[in-house]
Amino acid sequence: MKILVTGGAGYIGSHTVVELQNAGYDVVIIDNLSNSDASVLEGIEEITGKSPIFYNLDLCNKEDLNSCLQKERNIDAIIHFAAFKAVGESERLPMKYYNNNVVGMINLLDCIVKNELNNFVFSSSCTVYGEAEELPVTENSPMKKAESAYGFTKQIGERILSDVSKANNLKVISLRYFNPIGGHDTAIIGELPLGVPNNLVPFITQTAIGIREQLTIFGNDYDTPDGTNVRDYIHVVDLAKAHVKAVARLIEQKSKDNLEVFNLGTGVGNSVLEVVKTFEKVSGEKLNYKIGERRAGDVVSIYADTSKAGEVLGWRTERDLANALSTAWKWELALKDKKDKGNS
Ligand code: NAD
Ligand code: WQD
Repeated sequence: MKILVTGGAGYIGSHTVVELQNAGYDVVIIDNLSNSDASVLEGIEEITGKSPIFYNLDLCNKEDLNSCLQKERNIDAIIHFAAFKAVGESERLPMKYYNNNVVGMINLLDCIVKNELNNFVFSSSCTVYGEAEELPVTENSPMKKAESAYGFTKQIGERILSDVSKANNLKVISLRYFNPIGGHDTAIIGELPLGVPNNLVPFITQTAIGIREQLTIFGNDYDTPDGTNVRDYIHVVDLAKAHVKAVARLIEQKSKDNLEVFNLGTGVGNSVLEVVKTFEKVSGEKLNYKIGERRAGDVVSIYADTSKAGEVLGWRTERDLANALSTAWKWELALKDKKDKGNS
């Protein structure tokens, strides 16, 4: 069985490629390395002993994309990770996001339909829910007006997939990730943010290792138990394993609808302060942090109802926040070690 993974050199993509290969699938990666490094491919091979086929290709280049799909015959399913994901940047540069995330996906779908491929997994996000009225959120919770251009690309993506799957012989599973964190147990692959991280956990680990001076917690006057925002932080390896389940469901033709949607989270909400305290506990490091202003666009609290993924996909998380944070820390230490060796 052969799986095409767009964005397979990225953070979630690389962990998913490892789990796919561990489950016996052959993998073809398309990635233009716009937010990743080719060394990740070596890391995947080091972990699994198998080298994925790699195309350095931009989804916005439809001709090259089509040639790739014609060359790589017999693709059983596609997992589509490739997209830009920085919420703040998407507000400043919306066209960059609409072009890459929407046009890129339309090109991909065009080629998929042309080449008569039938199974598609989409990387969606809890951002589609906005500020939810009831917690935990289920897949039926209403979508709110998107807070950012990035968030809108995920809403548009799901709508396009709903229409295209209805009109063609295409089955789609859309996976709404909550907050993915952590890295592989081997510390050979992990999250590689370029520049100053936007997300909490890489900012924490970079502060603890001395790359950043201080973490600012964005507000402690929210209506939550300790005043800081609540999120559902999910271990990236658990998340990766859900993709293996989704692909199997599509290939075994078990899907009930053209488009099925699943929340992927732990079902547990943790505050920013809880994350900081848990990090301090598992790393043994004292974190330099201060309380700052609220960040524009942050929802107060969100966490997932994951019962549908449990019942239908047969997927459950196996790791908790402490485990996820300890792998994130192990990865940051491994990056430092690599850098130190490069400098000596
Ligand atoms: P990432 O940036 O690490 O990975 C995305 C990969 O896609 C990168 O390797 C990048 O080089 C590649 N890429 C981007 N545009 C491309 C294009 N036009 N052609 C070819 N390759 C391209 O991001 P990630 O965190 O692994 O996220 C993967 C997916 O999951 C994205 O769709 C993202 O929106 C979604 N998602 C991420 C999070 C998160 O917090 N990380 C949460 C919810 C959803
Ligand atoms: C988590 C919490 C911050 C940094 C984003 C996207 C969402 C989805 C997941 C893609 C918040 C606080 C953060 C810092 C802080 N991605 N924080 N200081 O905003 O929940 O979700 O990633 O689809 O769409 O919006 O994740 O990691 O940025 O923030 O206090 O320096 O940490 O305010 O409460 P977020 P995050």
